[in-house]
Amino acid sequence: MNRNLALEFVRVTEMAAIASARLMGRGDEKASDQAAVDAMRAMLDSVECDATVVIGEGERDEAPMLYIGEKVGTGSGPKLEIALDPLEGTTICANGGYNSISVMAIGGENCLLHAPDTYMDKIAVGPDCKGAVDITLSPTENLKRIADVKRCRIADLTAVILDRERHAGLIAEVRSTGARIQLIGDGDVSAAIATTNPNMGVDVLFGIGGAPEGVIAAAALQCVGGDFQGILRPRNNEEIERAKKMGISDIKKIFSIDDLASGNVMFVATGVTDGSYLDGVLFKGGGCRTHSIVMRSESGTVREIFAEHKFDTKPRY
Ligand code: FBP
Repeated sequence: MNRNLALEFVRVTEMAAIASARLMGRGDEKASDQAAVDAMRAMLDSVECDATVVIGEGERDEAPMLYIGEKVGTGSGPKLEIALDPLEGTTICANGGYNSISVMAIGGENCLLHAPDTYMDKIAVGPDCKGAVDITLSPTENLKRIADVKRCRIADLTAVILDRERHAGLIAEVRSTGARIQLIGDGDVSAAIATTNPNMGVDVLFGIGGAPEGVIAAAALQCVGGDFQGILRPRNNEEIERAKKMGISDIKKIFSIDDLASGNVMFVATGVTDGSYLDGVLFKGGGCRTHSIVMRSESGTVREIFAEHKFDTKPRY
């Protein structure tokens, strides 16, 4: 995959981030999501590739744009598959909260799991803890192993967990170990990528969130040599059937990071609202600044890109 494509894809998340950030705090989740979808869709067509959306806004009959199976890009160039979320953290953006991003993972054919829109139990850690964690073990055991690798006390570790009723037991167990917890309202992709950077103060992500988000986060961790494991947690038979239709016959399968994202993958994200890793879109007179990250598994390079956009020279923005 041409490495310059990664920079082309950053333009796509930048534009989606700017469009949705304009609607920050307006309390309208649908509008901010739609703005991101429209902008991402429009910008994707300028990227020279023959790409198919494998994780997107839903099935063709429920999503008019960026649906699963939709062809995007100019139609010439490399054949790619894209897992995208134009606005990850719609509620965050609608409330003007922290950590909403516009995000995409890109790979060659069959590099990314075609995950059904169901829940997934997840564990994510940065490169230093690769090989140390195991999703089939208890959170207590995993925290012990992380503390051993990091040569610190469990009490010095921070776990990020989505603040949900379903996590009451998990939260109680993590608290009983003495580890610190960051409870987040939404946005477990941001939380997962925060584990890749030791300066973010996030040691592990635990808990159940969206499976599509799991694949996107796994691509980021794959790029930097981190670890991510997941187990699907379908809520009903319909979701089980959907997973089977998408080629997942063993619904209880423990997905390793390589099952979720393998080969030559890229990950790009732009902050919509301020977050621990990425700054949100900063509007200034006549333009705005965006903050993005680009990662490539082939090189392991992580680029942070601050871009200054001038609205008078870029009328589409
Ligand atoms: P959206 O951007 O689709 O709103 O997803 C936000 C999110 O918090 C994800 O980060 C997370 O994986 C999922 O929702 C959790 O789902 P739920 O809100 O149903 O617990």
